[in-house]
Amino acid sequence: MKAVKIGICGLGTVGAGTFNLLSANRDAINAHANRDIQVTRVGARRDNSACDLSNTEVLRDIFAVADSDIDVLVELIGGTTTALDLVLRAIENGKHVVTANKALIAEHGNEIFAAARRKRVQVAYEAAVAGGIPIIKTLREGLAANHVEWLAGIINGTGNFILTEMRDKGRDFADVLAEAQALGYAEADPTFDVEGIDAAHKLVILASLAFGMPLRFDAVYTEGISAIEPTDVIYAEELGYRIKHLGIARKREQGVELRVHPTLVPENRLIAQVDGVMNAVMVKGDAVGPTLHYGAGAGAGPTASAVVADIIDVARALETPPDQCVQALGVVDDAMADLPVLPIEEVETACYLRASVLDKPGVLSAIAQIISKHGISVEAIIQKEPAPGQDHVPLIMLTNRSSEQNLRSAQREIEALESVEGRLISIRVEALNG
Ligand SMILES: NC(=O)c1ccc[n+]([C@@H]2O[C@H](COP(=O)([O-])OP(=O)(O)OC[C@H]3O[C@@H](n4cnc5c(N)ncnc54)[C@H](OP(=O)(O)O)[C@@H]3O)[C@@H](O)[C@H]2O)c1
Repeated sequence: MKAVKIGICGLGTVGAGTFNLLSANRDAINAHANRDIQVTRVGARRDNSACDLSNTEVLRDIFAVADSDIDVLVELIGGTTTALDLVLRAIENGKHVVTANKALIAEHGNEIFAAARRKRVQVAYEAAVAGGIPIIKTLREGLAANHVEWLAGIINGTGNFILTEMRDKGRDFADVLAEAQALGYAEADPTFDVEGIDAAHKLVILASLAFGMPLRFDAVYTEGISAIEPTDVIYAEELGYRIKHLGIARKREQGVELRVHPTLVPENRLIAQVDGVMNAVMVKGDAVGPTLHYGAGAGAGPTASAVVADIIDVARALETPPDQCVQALGVVDDAMADLPVLPIEEVETACYLRASVLDKPGVLSAIAQIISKHGISVEAIIQKEPAPGQDHVPLIMLTNRSSEQNLRSAQREIEALESVEGRLISIRVEALNG
């Protein structure tokens, strides 16, 4: 069997996981690749005691790995600065690249893939989205016969863990976040996870594959989960829904919707039952209908599983002319380059609304009038009894599908009513059935 020389840069969680998986499952991996896959270089500032590096040359300068006689550079350092320089240097040197870095692909993928095309090398990034779930391969190959209409995913395990704990134990956001940090699920700076930036990185990658469009990270509408209150989790359940932090991409005639936000999902949808740190992605293709892909979105083993699958693919295709290889971004649809990403105001969803209203006759009908004036109708309503000593009560409404613009106008008018205290809570609702 011919040898393929691999250089792994970054020996942290995923780097060590990849190094060890290549060694533990070596025979099976070589058989799948039809090559002898050898890690001949590792680029790391320090050794990792989880790895036996006795047969591997360890270089302290990762750029020296890119300049060495490897065939494939595996970038697992993370970040978008040094990682970009490293990947471009490897491509320039004619090396194939495997990466797990969603931020790098989402923000610089267009440039990286253009460089790879010029140098006729492959860039693979299965681990960048949903960890161990082979969703990139699924979109690019398994569903290649379809026009993808929409996709929706739970693509950040930390956020899903927090929402699951809030529902199961009635805890509030800050309390669960602190536990997630202590368990190592959330970073010291949790902004990327809880404000939806990490999910937005992954969503643009999925959307570009699903619709053949350029990576448009700049255009994603992003809303986090830090404002979700336990009461809304409870009322959502009373209405038959669960709150999930979804990344949603939908192709419409006028453009593409790209949005990450908390979403009420009917509790009988399988995706609503995806709990804890697990990930899931629904993809609706015109021929196949709705599909659901579920698995671990992070961790050394699941992520290494995806990285090694890419190494196998790259190794198998080493002698295939690049134009006959599966393309990094799938089949790019030139018409999609001009299709705009729609502003959130043009998105249509049903909506969950919660107001704190004065407990007196006429208030409900005043609110109902405003809602209907904006062409919206109410599908379900819950009005609670006042707590002892309170003159305001929670009023919860579920609207039909309406434009964001109409919903926002109605919301502003309702908030201006004297009988309404404070701001309205609004959370979009997706049936995920069409
Ligand atoms: N962890 C997951 O479950 C997961 C899942 C999917 C995708 N990913 C992606 O995989 C990548 C790696 O994540 P990770 O969790 O493995 O991160 P990590 O544990 O922090 O490991 C990163 C490693 O890269 C090293 N490094 C950074 N800059 C370097 C440099 N200039 N030279 C040499 N070494 C350098 C770090 O070394 P020092 O310790 O010396 O700084 C560290 O060992 C990221 O892009 C991440 O988004 C991770």
